[in-house]
Amino acid sequence: MSDIETKHLLFCSVLLLPVLAGAATQESVHAPADAAALTLACSGCHGTQTGVSGLPRLDGMEAPVFIQRMIDFKSGKRVSSIMNRIARGYDESELQKMADYLSRQAPVSP
Ligand code: HEC
Repeated sequence: MSDIETKHLLFCSVLLLPVLAGAATQESVHAPADAAALTLACSGCHGTQTGVSGLPRLDGMEAPVFIQRMIDFKSGKRVSSIMNRIARGYDESELQKMADYLSRQAPVSP
């Protein structure tokens, strides 16, 4: 790579950095959208605003109940073929965000 090409690349990376940093900051400021995005991963199996199934619905679930069930899945106290693995993927602050968000969603009848 020529010297000019290298400098050009460096210059472009410097220009891009604030854009990327800005995107990351924006994400953390908008907590509700963040929580909605987190729970999208659940809607394929559970009934939520975007899905209907025979599994327990998550929308409208009281926050402390939701958190306790997720903690029980995480620790293995409650055994499930899939939820033990899924629950381990979320830390406490993510669980709290999802719990707050889900408890504010009106349950939709299937
Ligand atoms: C691949 C399908 C699948 C996905 C995806 C999934 N779940 Fe589940 N979930 C299940 C099944 C099956 C059960 C029932 C397990 C049992 O009773 O042992 C369950 C049970 C639960 C329960 C307990 C409900 C109750 O009333 O007892 C909670 C809470 C829960 N899931 C939360 C979530 C969250 C949050 C996500 C997304 C991060 C998620 N699940 C994604 C399949 C899934």
